[in-house]
Amino acid sequence: MYSKELNSIKKSNRLRTRKIFDKNLIDLASNDYLGLASNKELFKNAYKRVIKEQYTSPKASMLVNGYSSIHKEFEDALKKANNFEDAVVVGSGFLANISMIEALVRKGDTIFIDEEYHASGMLATKLLDDKQTIIFKHNDHKDLKDKIETCKNKGRKLIAIEGVYSMGGDIAPAEIFDIADEKDALLIVDEAHSSGVLGDNLLGIFDYYNITPKENHIKMGTLGKAYGSYGAYILASSEIIEFLLNRAKAIIYTTAPSLFDMALGLESLKFILKNSDKIKSKINANLQVINDILGITSHSLIIPINIADNKKVLEIQEILKQKGFLVGAIRQPTVKSAIIRLIAKIDVDTKALEKVSQLLKELK
Ligand SMILES: Cc1ncc(COP(=O)(O)O)c(C=O)c1O
Repeated sequence: MYSKELNSIKKSNRLRTRKIFDKNLIDLASNDYLGLASNKELFKNAYKRVIKEQYTSPKASMLVNGYSSIHKEFEDALKKANNFEDAVVVGSGFLANISMIEALVRKGDTIFIDEEYHASGMLATKLLDDKQTIIFKHNDHKDLKDKIETCKNKGRKLIAIEGVYSMGGDIAPAEIFDIADEKDALLIVDEAHSSGVLGDNLLGIFDYYNITPKENHIKMGTLGKAYGSYGAYILASSEIIEFLLNRAKAIIYTTAPSLFDMALGLESLKFILKNSDKIKSKINANLQVINDILGITSHSLIIPINIADNKKVLEIQEILKQKGFLVGAIRQPTVKSAIIRLIAKIDVDTKALEKVSQLLKELK
């Protein structure tokens, strides 16, 4: 029934498949930036906590009786660390984006969204009326400003950006924070790839730019990346969190997030805050290796290497696999032009990072 479309995907070397990769490969493909997804100590602590205190699954939505002390403690720790008024945990980053965008953009409101915003946010805009979504050029604050100024809609204005963009690894410019204030807009910042990696306290882009969160700021973070767990959270003013608890369908009509995942997220948050100096110096060391060998300057641990050929990225990935390294081979439609996505994870040995960078320099 879908063979025509599948065949055209295959013909253009864009077919995606699930693979179980050899565990012995050195992982330079996942978003586990800090290596916490396999930190036994954090796992044990989270497990002990769930077994000792709860010994149950969530069983219901957080708005019925699925909310527990583990959810609350994690939310309290997140809001304290990030300096936001309130927080809510969510099942995943995908659900968080759907929740925020579908619920916060009311009739007559407009959302201005970066063209490279994550697929979950783009999908959420499809739930709005046609005229409510305006896409601006990637990281182009002038285009954003022009589009806000020429917009005729009378309602609220919202802006949606990412702290670190998931494929390009580039960071949002500070000017967008200024535009949000100047134009009295709500600013949604997806920090999936920046929390745990950017900023003096490794909290993300607000921390990086030293911006104190205000009433018009909303931050979303995911646990499936630097936090080595699964799930997400939204930080905002108390009013916005209360509104989401009452209007966001992907929070209300879904089972509360898994307790183990939340307990692990809490362990990771504590670990990151406690070890921030050590983590930052390893991040800087890895970025120096990338700069020395590949000539790429990056603020994040996502290193895109432009190949622009769907077949070739798969070939490069295979060659590196034979040599013991796993890197991402990302093709359209995820990116406009095919890239090798190298993640300079800090748990990877420096020699290994040097070797894979050298190989990539020769293969690209
Ligand atoms: C920028 C961004 N936002 C949101 C998500 C979704 O997060 P999750 O994996 O928790 O659903 C991702 C994950 O790929 C992402 O890269």
